[in-house]
Amino acid sequence: VTQFRIDGPTLTLRLPELEDAPAIFALAADPEVTRWFSWGPYRDVADAEAWLAQLPGQRERGEELALIAERGDQAIGVYGLNELSRRDRRCMLGFWLGRRFWGSGAHAEGVAVAAALAFTALRMGRLGAYTNVENARSAASLQRAGFRREGTLRAWHRHGDAVHDVHVFGLLRSEWEASELGRVAVQVHGRPPAAFVMSA
Ligand SMILES: CC(C)(COP(=O)(O)OP(=O)(O)OC[C@H]1O[C@@H](n2cnc3c(N)ncnc32)[C@H](O)[C@@H]1OP(=O)(O)O)[C@@H](O)C(=O)NCCC(=O)NCCS
Repeated sequence: VTQFRIDGPTLTLRLPELEDAPAIFALAADPEVTRWFSWGPYRDVADAEAWLAQLPGQRERGEELALIAERGDQAIGVYGLNELSRRDRRCMLGFWLGRRFWGSGAHAEGVAVAAALAFTALRMGRLGAYTNVENARSAASLQRAGFRREGTLRAWHRHGDAVHDVHVFGLLRSEWEASELGRVAVQVHGRPPAAFVMSA
């Protein structure tokens, strides 16, 4: 059986394995990488192991489809789909890359590969994303990819005791089909996790 993965021109998104813990720990031990998240920075490889260990259950329950972004056999970051609504055929996209891969062009391709996955193999009608209102870099990356900023959600994310506002972005299937993003050559291998595939 072919393991599920999606290949872009220079980057692959694949299912995580417990063996990824040292690489994921090294990338997410950087406070700049996790600055906008409710978690991190990782302090110990056990933090990465604990995250990886609960992913298969989350994947089976349709809660989170986390994928390792890999370039040249090296893990460089994570792209994940979550907040799935089967009825509405939509989900949200999250992402992070190790600091040394910022500005490398990997992210533009990572978004293209994740969007192709969502709109083809998973049959989504809409892909959304949140960014902290101060995370200008992430917001710019989404707008560059063709996502539209649709509004601001107040007190949306809780990180410890702090509550944060976020911008919400959306990309519709029709927009993806007409966009540069939709023209990036992507190949899906194997079967995507069933809980994330919308009915035909
Ligand atoms: C978000 C992330 C994946 C983006 O990848 P990246 O390689 O840094 O993205 P890019 O280099 O393509 O930069 C994206 C855009 O931001 C712009 N930018 C860079 N620094 C910026 C800043 N400080 N303020 C505003 N825009 C900025 C870039 O010019 C680029 O815009 P352009 O494509 O229109 O030229 C990466 O920065 C990251 O992992 N950040 C930490 C985790 C995170 O914030 N994840 C997203 C949570 S919503």
